[in-house]
Amino acid sequence: MNQPRIQNRPIQISGNLICGVIIAFFVISVTRTQSYMTHFSDQSNESSCHVGTYIENVCRKYLPNTNENVPNTHEDVPNTNEDVPDAHEDASTQRIDFNKSIEMKYFKRNRNARSVTCSNLFRGDMSEITKAKFIMKTVKPVRMNLEVLIGLRDRRKCAAFINQRGYIVDSLTEEEQDFPVAFGMLVHKEIELVERLLRAIYRPQNFYCIHIDAKIDRKARAALEGVVGCFPNVFLASRSIRVAWGSFQVLEAELVCMRDMWQHQGWKYFINLAGQEFPLRTNYELVRILQAMDGANFVQSSLRGAKPSRWKNAPPIPLGLRKVTGALHIVVNRGFVDYALHNQTAIALFNWCRYTKIPDEIFFNTLNHNPQLGIPGSYTGDPDDGFMKPHISRFKIWRGMPFSCDRFIRRVCILGMNQLPVLVRRPEFFANKFSLEHDPYAYDCMEELLYNRTRHQYLHDRSVNTCYYSSLWQYKYRVPGH
Ligand SMILES: *[C@@H]1O[C@H](CO)[C@@H](O)[C@H](O)[C@H]1NC(C)=O
Ligand SMILES: *[C@@H]1O[C@H](CO)[C@@H](O)[C@H](O)[C@H]1NC(C)=O
Ligand SMILES: *[C@@H]1O[C@H](CO)[C@@H](O)[C@H](O)[C@H]1NC(C)=O
Ligand SMILES: *[C@@H]1O[C@H](CO)[C@@H](O)[C@H](O)[C@H]1NC(C)=O
Repeated sequence: MNQPRIQNRPIQISGNLICGVIIAFFVISVTRTQSYMTHFSDQSNESSCHVGTYIENVCRKYLPNTNENVPNTHEDVPNTNEDVPDAHEDASTQRIDFNKSIEMKYFKRNRNARSVTCSNLFRGDMSEITKAKFIMKTVKPVRMNLEVLIGLRDRRKCAAFINQRGYIVDSLTEEEQDFPVAFGMLVHKEIELVERLLRAIYRPQNFYCIHIDAKIDRKARAALEGVVGCFPNVFLASRSIRVAWGSFQVLEAELVCMRDMWQHQGWKYFINLAGQEFPLRTNYELVRILQAMDGANFVQSSLRGAKPSRWKNAPPIPLGLRKVTGALHIVVNRGFVDYALHNQTAIALFNWCRYTKIPDEIFFNTLNHNPQLGIPGSYTGDPDDGFMKPHISRFKIWRGMPFSCDRFIRRVCILGMNQLPVLVRRPEFFANKFSLEHDPYAYDCMEELLYNRTRHQYLHDRSVNTCYYSSLWQYKYRVPGH
């Protein structure tokens, strides 16, 4: 019992050091670049759970390898107390049995990356990075064979596939079961990543809509059809639109999935994703956080940063709405989706967006920042406050932000091994974006991390610190409703 603790001490020290450096980093960056909306600040002194404290908690809790400190499940099982009446004893034994069977089914195997030691990479260990880079240069990584996915169109193969890939086909906890989430996904390439993302976020109570770009090749489409058909709650969007970046079609494609999703009952929040993203939160964390948000939407916005050239050729905006731009990545409640799809004002705004540039960065953002419309969960505060209203739905490194990055594509960082120490302690919901061609091991390690956290939360620690999230202004200044 003593040994792991001794082993872990140097890790904790270096972890705290990293934390310190990161916090310092934020402080510096806050003073340097206001416009890039650094995601943390210590300005909120209103509650004891202010943002700086949160980072420290995250650091302590998710430090790689801390899982090894956790006693194994046998010790977690409560001793049967002799005073407890029989009935109680039965119930608790049953519960333990249930946990045990899930453990055997989903959490027996490790999902450790091949070839590299992720826990070292998450610590930023230079020799591990050097080693991993060497491997990356010399060894061709094992890639998924699309034929396997295409073969799934023969449904008899689904059960073996689901089992072999380790999909979690149990909602795991009551909280998660009672809080289904709807995911829309826009896909135009990297089919392997799409399947791996689905595996990461899949739970039987959730819903998944995949919009395949009309220009995708036939083989890729067949592969996705194969995967999708194996699950009752995963489906392809009813229409495939040919999407060009920045065009009106991006917004249209988003709305296809939203509309399809509307047919399904019971989900509480809608989240839109792209195929090259990966979760930073487990499903359990996501549910606990969203529960605590009480309907608040997460939609990025800027009023001052909005470029008038975007609507230079547009007629006057309906109802004189306040024009806001921001990222496409949204996390919104069911009432918001209802409004966006059905209300006359939203439809008028949607049609107005046809005359704008990059309308996918205008439509949802404008809806969410006109509180006079009364849209559930929309925002009544200052749209430009990136400190207290950070872009929590996505961690994404743009060129010019104070994070290191080895490779930018269209000004967006392709996340790799060098970003793992940052990723492990970010509070955002998802990270954008990954590419197997550029760095397969970073993705492998993110899978390992998410899997470990899921297991750890299921078996050992069901506490989630939602206090950071509920101290954000998205929560504080929200229009009530869901
Ligand atoms: C911040 O909170 C601390 C206690 O946590 C208090 O002592 C201090 O006065 C507060 N500062 C401001 C500026 O409100
Ligand atoms: C399984 O174990 C966790 C943590 O030990 C406990 O909180 C939970 O109630 C158990 N779940 C079930 C369904 O028994
Ligand atoms: C995940 O858990 C396994 C088994 O305990 C461990 O070997 C591995 O280092 C962990 N990985 C991370 C990134 O925490
Ligand atoms: C549409 O929204 C407006 C306010 O934004 C509201 O007054 C109106 O009742 C809504 N229409 C419907 C059909 O819900």
